[in-house]
Amino acid sequence: MKTNPWLDIPYSDYENHMDDPKVGQLKVLSAMTRDMLNKYKPRSLFLLGCSTGNGLEHIDCRYTKRVYCVDINKSYLQVLEQRFNSSIENLYLIHLDIQNQCLPSVKTDLIFGSLILEYVDIKHAINNIIPAVTANTTLIFILQKTVNTGFVTKTKYQSLESLSSISREVDEKELENELNFYNISLVHRTETVLNPTKKFVTLTYQAEN
Ligand SMILES: C[S@@+](CC[C@H](N)C(=O)[O-])C[C@H]1O[C@@H](n2cnc3c(N)ncnc32)[C@H](O)[C@@H]1O
Repeated sequence: MKTNPWLDIPYSDYENHMDDPKVGQLKVLSAMTRDMLNKYKPRSLFLLGCSTGNGLEHIDCRYTKRVYCVDINKSYLQVLEQRFNSSIENLYLIHLDIQNQCLPSVKTDLIFGSLILEYVDIKHAINNIIPAVTANTTLIFILQKTVNTGFVTKTKYQSLESLSSISREVDEKELENELNFYNISLVHRTETVLNPTKKFVTLTYQAEN
């Protein structure tokens, strides 16, 4: 069986690629995570596809008491732990493949995933997220949209090129249908333009009471 390409990408390649001027997404995603934390002030949070913890520097422990970080790549989680274990009170690292394994049924206020759904089967991933959703959970996904360009920008970090075998744009309608099946509805949609060929779409969903 083929291994997931994310397992072969060194964390430094990933971070340098995302911070490369041609990509310029690391700081934007950190700022979007900061804004989301300020807006929702979640007491507990699942961060899906957390990588090495971009954005966790904005966690305010006065509000956020538990943070569950999920990623398929164990070495990313190890780096995240080194960076944030002393500043985040209750930091839980969860090494799993969201396409094939369920989230633990820990109830959180907020489930947040930026640029992860592009790498998984939507139906399986949503099904695996559901055990952690309650009537009070907000779900936020950031998706990348491109116009006339490759999904993964070419930089000198060639290990990222293997991602083209699994990455694709998320069909918003498909995502909405999968979530509607579980009585979870879209409540907000915003766009953040990065450059003429790329933008982020932020989708906020809420379980219906
Ligand atoms: C593009 S990065 C996410 C960027 C990050 N959220 C940020 O704000 O900088 C995608 C992350 O999702 C993780 N990932 C990809 N497929 C996954 C899966 N099936 N299960 C869990 N994590 C996965 C990758 O290892 C990687 O860390």
